Amino acid sequence: MSGEWIEYHQKTLVVPHRPLLEEVIHKVQTPIKKAVDAGCGTGADAAYLAAQGFDVVAFDSSQSAINTCRARFAESNNVKCVNHCFSTFYFPPCSLFWASQSLYFCPLENLTTFVQKALTSLLPGGVFTADFLGQRDTWVGSEEKSISFCQQSDIHNWSELYELLQIRETEEDGTTIMGQTKHWHTLTAVIRKPL
Ligand SMILES: C[S@@+](CC[C@H](N)C(=O)[O-])C[C@H]1O[C@@H](n2cnc3c(N)ncnc32)[C@H](O)[C@@H]1O
Repeated sequence: MSGEWIEYHQKTLVVPHRPLLEEVIHKVQTPIKKAVDAGCGTGADAAYLAAQGFDVVAFDSSQSAINTCRARFAESNNVKCVNHCFSTFYFPPCSLFWASQSLYFCPLENLTTFVQKALTSLLPGGVFTADFLGQRDTWVGSEEKSISFCQQSDIHNWSELYELLQIRETEEDGTTIMGQTKHWHTLTAVIRKPL
C-alpha cells in the first residue's frame, strides 16, 4: 500500500477540510480544545482544527504524509504530527477524536479495540467521529488490502455507555481519488461522551 499512499497524498496536497468537521466541533460540550486526527493524510482537517483554536495531534502511518504535515505546520505550535499506525498510537485525552476515511484501513481484528480506546480517551463532553466501510463495499473481502468494515449494530454496541448522536449510512457507485470505480458503502458515526 505504501506506494499507493504516496500517490494518494500527492493528489490531496491541496484539498479543503471536510464540511462534516464544522458540524461536529459544535457538538463538543467542553471548552477544552484538544483534538486527535487519526490517519490525517496531508493535514487539511488538522489545519481547520488548528484554525479553530484546537491543539491537534495528527498521526498517520505514512512517513511521507507526516513529512508533508510537518512542513505544512512548521510555523504553527498547535499541531503535533506523529508517525504512528492504529496499533501503536498512544491516545492522549482529547475533546475531539476525528478519523476521516482512515479506519477503513485498520485491520479488522484491531478495529473494536481501537474504537474503544479512542472513546475512552475522550474528555467528558468530547466527541468521536469516524467513517467505517459497510459490508457491501467493493473493498471488503479484497485480498490485497488490510480492510475493515462494520455494521450499525457494532456502532450501537461501541456506544453503549455514550451518546450516539448520529449514524449516517450511504451506498452509491462512484470513484476513488485515484480514479478507480467502485461501490461505496460507508457508515459515519458521531458519538459523545456524557458530561
Ligand atoms: C483515505 S486517506 C484519508 C486521509 C484524511 N483523513 C482525509 O480524510 O483526507 C486514509 C489515510 O489513512 C492512513 N493510513 C492507512 N493505514 C493506516 C494505519 N494502519 N495507521 C494509520 N494511518 C493509516 C493513510 O496513510 C491515509 O493518509
